[in-house]
Amino acid sequence: MSRSVNVAIIGTGVVGAAFINQLKNLQSVITFNVVYLARSRTALIARDYQPLALASWEADVQAATTPTLALSELAQFLRAGTAPAILIDNTSNEEIASFYPSFIEQGISIATPNKKAFSSGLQTWKQIFAGAAKPAGGLVYHEATVGAGLPIIGTLRDIVATGDKVQKIEGIFSGTLSYIFNEFSTPEGKDVNFSDVVAVAKSLGYTEPDPRDDLNGLDVARKVTILARIAGFEVESPTSFPVHSLIPKALESVKSGEEYMEKLPEFDGDMETLKENAAKQNKVLRFVGKVDFPSNTVSVGIEEYSFDHPFAALKGSDNVVSIQTERYQNPLIVQGAGAGAEVTAAGVLADAIKIAERIAK
Ligand SMILES: NC(=O)c1ccc[n+]([C@@H]2O[C@H](COP(=O)([O-])OP(=O)(O)OC[C@H]3O[C@@H](n4cnc5c(N)ncnc54)[C@H](OP(=O)(O)O)[C@@H]3O)[C@@H](O)[C@H]2O)c1
Ligand SMILES: *[C@@H]1O[C@H](CO)[C@@H](O)[C@H](O)[C@H]1NC(C)=O
Ligand SMILES: *[C@@H]1O[C@H](CO)[C@@H](O)[C@H](O)[C@H]1NC(C)=O
Repeated sequence: MSRSVNVAIIGTGVVGAAFINQLKNLQSVITFNVVYLARSRTALIARDYQPLALASWEADVQAATTPTLALSELAQFLRAGTAPAILIDNTSNEEIASFYPSFIEQGISIATPNKKAFSSGLQTWKQIFAGAAKPAGGLVYHEATVGAGLPIIGTLRDIVATGDKVQKIEGIFSGTLSYIFNEFSTPEGKDVNFSDVVAVAKSLGYTEPDPRDDLNGLDVARKVTILARIAGFEVESPTSFPVHSLIPKALESVKSGEEYMEKLPEFDGDMETLKENAAKQNKVLRFVGKVDFPSNTVSVGIEEYSFDHPFAALKGSDNVVSIQTERYQNPLIVQGAGAGAEVTAAGVLADAIKIAERIAK
């Protein structure tokens, strides 16, 4: 008989849906039995642990009336199955994230693109990985929390595990801010106002409904927190280091995203000055997150890069990370699509496969 795992999926949004569709078509010697599929209010629950039929999952989820299990009940349900269990948390929910230590303690493994658990208080991070290190603890993989499906977290963990020493990590970790700066500040010296670029990004659906949720830098700060911690830098929280918000002070408290967009052109001059000063030195502006070990600093904000630097040649909404270590004096660079349902779901599925290979019975 083939080895199998039980899978619980929370979240059927953009990423969740792509994940289920990829899982449906998966060719594997390990059997993935989906026994729980939940949205925020309702769930499909295979009480007998006979796998849910994925062929009709969308209609079945639509028709579901059974309330979602409380997280403690979900843990109990998964523990009572005969096969080891993997939880796929495809939400951005903080409450679910704060329950990770308990799942792991109970031997339930987790694969997730949800950044919250790994980028909040340092205590939660320590609890999660101390639990995962125990023989009976669940495993935790979260590649898609930084750069979606790009091999960043796994690569960094391998670098650290093999005894290399990280000296500097810097990267562009927001697809939205990548796009905005790649369009605003180019080696060719494109003549365009910052507010117009933000407006185009919004109209293309690249920004959150209120663009300030991207431009405040907090999402980047969360990702940098995760990378810094893996590299051995004990970051207390994503607000415990300097984060340069791109939102003008005067617009921080305006009520709506619409009002912010209306008033943003008044501040174009400030961004234009920064861009021109950089251009005079043959440099472009990019919004980056940095971890620097020699100076013992973590930071998020605008930096200048020479026209011939890899960050200056970035296109579209790609992400990029540059990792300099004792062994990689010439930095290791990973670059590519850092957002999107398919690549994010693939990152989560690859993690689920890695977990299954280690725990399936
Ligand atoms: N999109 C990307 O490119 C990308 C890239 C990297 C990482 N991520 C991360 O991937 C995660 C998912 O993003 P997404 O864009 O797929 O989100 P989304 O479209 O908003 O989907 C969220 C899903 O989670 C469900 N949900 C929320 N709270 C829940 C709760 N308490 N219990 C059960 N289900 C709950 C929602 O239920 P309902 O259906 O009932 O509303 C919905 O199905 C996020 O953490 C995001 O940061 C996304
Ligand atoms: C799964 O992730 C995608 C991508 O972030 C998101 O759009 C979707 O809402 C998520 N699904 C759930 C159920 O959270
Ligand atoms: C930028 O905005 C200023 C002031 O509104 C305007 O005069 C100028 O033409 C704009 N530049 C471009 C390239 O649109």
